[in-house]
Amino acid sequence: MRSQIVGTGSYVPERVLTNFDFEKLVETSDQWIFDRTGIRERRMAAPGEASSDMAAAASLRALEMAGVKPEDLDLIIVGTISADMPLPSCAAFLQAKLGAVNAVAFDIAAACAGSLYAMAIADRFIVSGQSKRVLVVGVELLTRIMDWTDRNTCVLFGDAAGAMVMAPTDDDDRGLLSTHLHTDGRQAEILYMPGGGSRSPASADTIAAKAHFVKMNGREVYKCAVRNLTSVLGEALAANHCTAGDLDHLITHQANLRILEAVLERFEIPKEKCWLNLQKYGNTSSASLPMSFDEANRAGRFRQGDLIAMMAIGAGMAWGSAMMRW
Ligand code: ACO
Repeated sequence: MRSQIVGTGSYVPERVLTNFDFEKLVETSDQWIFDRTGIRERRMAAPGEASSDMAAAASLRALEMAGVKPEDLDLIIVGTISADMPLPSCAAFLQAKLGAVNAVAFDIAAACAGSLYAMAIADRFIVSGQSKRVLVVGVELLTRIMDWTDRNTCVLFGDAAGAMVMAPTDDDDRGLLSTHLHTDGRQAEILYMPGGGSRSPASADTIAAKAHFVKMNGREVYKCAVRNLTSVLGEALAANHCTAGDLDHLITHQANLRILEAVLERFEIPKEKCWLNLQKYGNTSSASLPMSFDEANRAGRFRQGDLIAMMAIGAGMAWGSAMMRW
């Protein structure tokens, strides 16, 4: 038995922030941002809108496509590091909003790799026979944890949600073929948010020190991303006894166009095989992969039998890949 994706959905808030808007906030330019990242604009959630609201909007679209009712779900896994509040989980709020009363619900904190981690866990629950209808969500509301005076980070991220409904299939030729996950905690401090946890609880001092915002060493993240995405995509290809030339699609977390181009070049994968939307949405962290999957799916890109590779990397550092036959 394998797991397969039977429905996809996504959601972005209405408000658009262009690179020109950032020119008014920090010392930057549309040209600098576009040249270094490939990003032109991103979305920003409305005041009062929280992660579980965005997750619910994406999930309802995925459930509708799958023809699955919320009460038929038995598991909800949300990849997020920007939940509605520190506790309970975003998944608990999402479960209540959907009325998915029969689902166990929990969050996974693997940053930009969160939805890929969630998909790998969902796959294990399905293949073991424990779950039949699983909702996997990636949602981030990163504009709320950005330092709007730090040009190194604030221009990169956007708010969004992506969702997938996964279910079993007896067709051995289709579905999720493999997943590979990795973590290197020695690199935790190249991308992190130091305040608000047990080491440095919220206080007037942590607020004054801007410890509740994301901090990043961009150069180190860049090197780490290219190195590990290259190795984990290679690992997925080798495990499935295929080459990059066999791939029909690459659906990936989109942090930065230069990172992706470097990986594509190493495998000689044509850019057309990779669904790109970061020019419109920026880096949407865990939402990025399921949102890209949904856009490609709704655009009719996937044909039965197509080989789809997926990959993601984020804070942790945490990364992984998956291979799927559509
Ligand atoms: N506008 C103008 N100048 C800027 C900006 C900006 N928005 N941001 C940084 N700079 C400046 C820096 O201050 C620095 O100036 P200085 O030389 O006077 O000190 C100069 O540009 C060069 O800075 P670098 O960090 O060396 O620039 P680099 O070419 O490495 O590009 C970037 C920066 C785009 C962040 C790059 O390092 C990168 O892509 N890193 C990956 C980061 C990433 O994608 N993170 C996402 C989260 S993790 C994930 O999703 C995988």
